[in-house]
Amino acid sequence: SSPGPMRVALLRWYRTVHDTRRMPWRKPYNPSCGAEERAQRAYEVWVSEIMLQQTQVATVIPYYTRWMEKYPTICHLASANVDQVNALWKGLGYYSRASRLLAGAQKAVQKYGGRLPDNAKEMEANIPGIGRYSAGAICSIAYGEKAPVLDGNVHRLLSRVLALHAPPKVKSTLDILWGAATAMVQIEEAGITSPPQYAGDVNQALIELGSTVCKVHDPKCGTCPIQNWCSAYQNSESKESAKEDNT
Ligand code: ADE
Repeated sequence: SSPGPMRVALLRWYRTVHDTRRMPWRKPYNPSCGAEERAQRAYEVWVSEIMLQQTQVATVIPYYTRWMEKYPTICHLASANVDQVNALWKGLGYYSRASRLLAGAQKAVQKYGGRLPDNAKEMEANIPGIGRYSAGAICSIAYGEKAPVLDGNVHRLLSRVLALHAPPKVKSTLDILWGAATAMVQIEEAGITSPPQYAGDVNQALIELGSTVCKVHDPKCGTCPIQNWCSAYQNSESKESAKEDNT
């Protein structure tokens, strides 16, 4: 079925929560800003996404702020060395993330004059340390590309929406989930063209809903904006009412 109405509910929810959860890397998308500024946004989103990979938002914020003071642009970062970036990463863990950011920045400077590519395919293929998830997140948020994201949170959320009982890591499962994530950012339906911030908002809404509501343990289905479209929730509801019917 079409993800349209579910997406509308998701975006409405995201607008209400995102004013209360401020993050320095979340800036309003400005459609009139030029290529230079969008590439700068891409750098900022990239740093935030790498830091957020294994780390909570609240922990990341001060590290992100210090990083951006020390390396305000990709060119500043590219001229650093591994010891310097590791020193700034101290306490955040998974240090290979810092050296991968450095290697990616050096590649972006050598190959693209310091601008990250503006589409997910090229970014993933050419910038070391940027995989399919990060490329989708950066390109949708910074460049407005309709590129999907599938991280652990979105994987769990979409598996529940589809009531997908399949081994999580096999290719066939991942293909289904990447397909569902792609459908979420496509809106050419009924001739409606989406504003360019659309895909980035859909993706951040999915990530946010997955991490704050559709949790691993004890998901908060009662407050979930997309419960009407969630097969796992609907199935559990009908089980509940079946139980009631039997008493
Ligand atoms: N985790 C990963 N990406 C994120 C984002 N853009 N906002 C909040 N949490 C995230």
